[in-house]
Amino acid sequence: QQRFHLEHKELKLASDGPLGKYDRAQLQRGFQVYKEVCAACHSMRLVAFRHLEALGFTAPEVKAIASQWQIEVPSINPDTGEPATRKALPSDFMPSPYANETAARAANNNALPPDLSLITKAREGHAPYVYSLLTGYRDPKTYKNEHGEALPADGQPPAGLHFNPYFPNLNIAMPPPLTANGQVTYTDGTPATVENYAKDVSAFLVWTAEPELEGRHRAGVATIIFLLIATTLAYMAYQNIWRDKK
Ligand code: HEM
Repeated sequence: QQRFHLEHKELKLASDGPLGKYDRAQLQRGFQVYKEVCAACHSMRLVAFRHLEALGFTAPEVKAIASQWQIEVPSINPDTGEPATRKALPSDFMPSPYANETAARAANNNALPPDLSLITKAREGHAPYVYSLLTGYRDPKTYKNEHGEALPADGQPPAGLHFNPYFPNLNIAMPPPLTANGQVTYTDGTPATVENYAKDVSAFLVWTAEPELEGRHRAGVATIIFLLIATTLAYMAYQNIWRDKK
């Protein structure tokens, strides 16, 4: 099985490196992909709609976005016996589309779609892994690894699982979520391709996992400058104190 596993592909993001900053337009597109595709199965329980203001959405826009989600309230609708819901508010966190874990597993071949808030931190390979996973589905019948070996007959994915050589155990319960160019309509002129959807949503998931990254980078730069100045002063003081000593 290890012979068929692939290391993640490279992914370059504006937020990489010690001076990296987020590309707000890319994060907005990534959120759109999350909203229109991933949110059908995955929650984002550590991200509130109001946090989207950091991506450049205005308060009224955030309110309109939030109202597209439903939040369960702790009471039962007396007419239907179903749990009652209300429209989400900016202060709500992005909920799971499923009522509970049992319902989520029932809809996903007994697998649980993980909460995506911290997924780029939680998985080895980070954002490049997520990007590779999203673009990495292959036909198990024709797949060949780098040694030209095909999957053995008993290595074909069981019913309900999907072959993806970037997934550690090769067969994942998530059906390919990004399947066609044009699936999500971009409005900023960026080509609406699966490649871009996967990159943009991975960039967005870096932000959800670390919204304070830019502040951390700024603090790092300020610290290095401070240390350089402090070291220079200390050295000059040292020279001064010992000037007339042999
Ligand atoms: C797992 C991302 C859409 C169902 C995952 C994982 C990631 C992910 C990163 C974790 C893989 C791992 O454990 O290493 C995304 C993104 C999506 C998306 C970015 C949108 C572009 C969907 C949709 C569904 C879904 C639409 C449901 C139809 C699942 C399930 C798992 C999963 C069931 C667990 C798989 C397993 O453990 O075998 N997803 N997902 N995902 N996702 Fe998605």
